[in-house]
Amino acid sequence: MKNFWKTLKRPIAILAPMEEVTDLVFREIISTTAKPDVFFTEFTSADAIFSKGHDRIIKKLLFTKNQHPIVAQLWGSTPANYEKAAKFIVELGFDGIDINMGCPDRSVMRRNSGAALINDFKLAEEIINAVKKSTPEIPLSVKTRLGSDSKQTKEWLTFLLSQELSALSIHARTAQAMSKGTADWGEIGKTVKLRDSLKLDTLIIGNGDVIDYKDIVLKHKKYGIDGAMVGRGIFQNPWLFDKSENPVNHSKKDYLDLLIKHTRLFNEKWGKTKNFEIMKKFFKVYVKGFKGADDLRQRLMAAKNYIDVERIMHSVEW
Ligand SMILES: Cc1cc2nc3c(=O)[nH]c(=O)nc-3n(C[C@H](O)[C@H](O)[C@H](O)COP(=O)(O)O)c2cc1C
Repeated sequence: MKNFWKTLKRPIAILAPMEEVTDLVFREIISTTAKPDVFFTEFTSADAIFSKGHDRIIKKLLFTKNQHPIVAQLWGSTPANYEKAAKFIVELGFDGIDINMGCPDRSVMRRNSGAALINDFKLAEEIINAVKKSTPEIPLSVKTRLGSDSKQTKEWLTFLLSQELSALSIHARTAQAMSKGTADWGEIGKTVKLRDSLKLDTLIIGNGDVIDYKDIVLKHKKYGIDGAMVGRGIFQNPWLFDKSENPVNHSKKDYLDLLIKHTRLFNEKWGKTKNFEIMKKFFKVYVKGFKGADDLRQRLMAAKNYIDVERIMHSVEW
């Protein structure tokens, strides 16, 4: 097996999978600001890849050569579909496959998928085995939470560790907690100890509330994690993966340049095939913290397309 996880220097810094955020375009933007060690796709339905929704779903699996190593994240509940989807992912040239066992969304859990698998060890194992069997050539990882309704660290994570995965990413909350409260990193530390006591070499990736690269290094030292995944932190700082000792404080111009770059690329890659409202979710990432930011953001939010954005930005003094 070509296992890219084993080639990376620790702590491994990863951009977390985020639906309608970490698409081809946003990943490309982040590959130019400060590149993480690993990219993940948005979660992609293994059941839908070969269904009528194929054309729409397949867009989630596009990537560029700048985005390696890249892991495709799958969700679903049918082992046979995972088997087919995993083969397809290998054909597309992905470096790894990840199974989502942590999504707390009701529509996902109702389909016995995401965090619902925490309550169904048997199905979780069948899915893992189906992927391992069909695609032994690339590493398999799982992304999960501490438990479903309550913390089940010991039984659930012992079970996952026994599956001999290449990596295990743990969002340190239960599914019930959604994104509320504080991530319980102590439980991640316990999982590292559990892994060590079982003498396994599954990498443990911590996730939850990481704010910058220094925080990743700190948590690596404190909890023994092999790496950390950052989700929402990237909205605060698109240069978050800058590993330098004293990262640059980016200017208003840097942020606004990035907004234009992102909007142009969004238009170039997705055109009318993706709703422009999705692009608008990023405006608050780039337009903040300077005099007139609120007013500019309001004007941008009224834009109907990228041409409107270009026009508005043309009238701004930077
Ligand atoms: C908008 C959004 C979309 C998300 N989509 C996914 C997803 O597709 N797959 C997944 O495993 N987790 C998903 N997550 C969860 C994140 O990967 C991450 O586990 C969570 O945000 C906690 O990390 P953070 O505190 O660094 O944001 C999503 C989170 C957000 C905010």
